[in-house]
Amino acid sequence: MTKNILILNGSPRMQGNTRSILKTLEKSFLENMQCNMEFIDVCQYVLKGCVNCDSCRKNGGKCVHNDDTNLLMEKVLAADVIIFGSPVYWMGVTAQLKLLIDKFYCKDPVIHSLDKKIAVLSVGAAELTDGQYGIIEAQFREMAEFLEWKFICSRSFAAWNEGDWEKNKEDVEEVKNLWRLF
Ligand SMILES: Cc1cc2nc3c(=O)[nH]c(=O)nc-3n(C[C@H](O)[C@H](O)[C@H](O)COP(=O)(O)O)c2cc1C
Repeated sequence: MTKNILILNGSPRMQGNTRSILKTLEKSFLENMQCNMEFIDVCQYVLKGCVNCDSCRKNGGKCVHNDDTNLLMEKVLAADVIIFGSPVYWMGVTAQLKLLIDKFYCKDPVIHSLDKKIAVLSVGAAELTDGQYGIIEAQFREMAEFLEWKFICSRSFAAWNEGDWEKNKEDVEEVKNLWRLF
């Protein structure tokens, strides 16, 4: 069966490590699996923060913000697989990616128990022994449990400057093979 795969890049750096990781994964999906692929640079979209106005709870799940929330939420709903990728910013994912995740609230009544698989890939400057990577993994595991989606994996990478990630050939090989988990 053809899968709808949605890759959400939470990094604002278009030549950055996160995007490079996600583009490597995208390529391996396209080479090895029959799929419809959508790659979204979340930072290129306009997203306002959820203000808990609850309008979405009264109007069938539409965010009333004049931004790209509803467009992106349709893509989230349509996806069988969602790959979240983010640099570590202050021990968590970027604010831009979190803005979108918060907007899952508007689809909360219909988004549970859908047949979705998710994974999270994070990249930070700190060594992989640092606890911050576990914080990010835990957040997505909890999210998957709450939404009754399948949590497939979390992978973390240590890289600082643009281009650093590609220098570690083992990491590149690992990402090239992740498609097998889906
Ligand atoms: C605002 C900001 C906060 C950051 N916070 C952390 C952090 O808490 N831990 C860490 O290891 N790296 C941190 N970094 C470094 C980035 O995670 C690292 O450079 C990463 O490779 C950037 O990913 P990108 O190239 O995909 O943008 C921070 C960078 C910025 C700009």
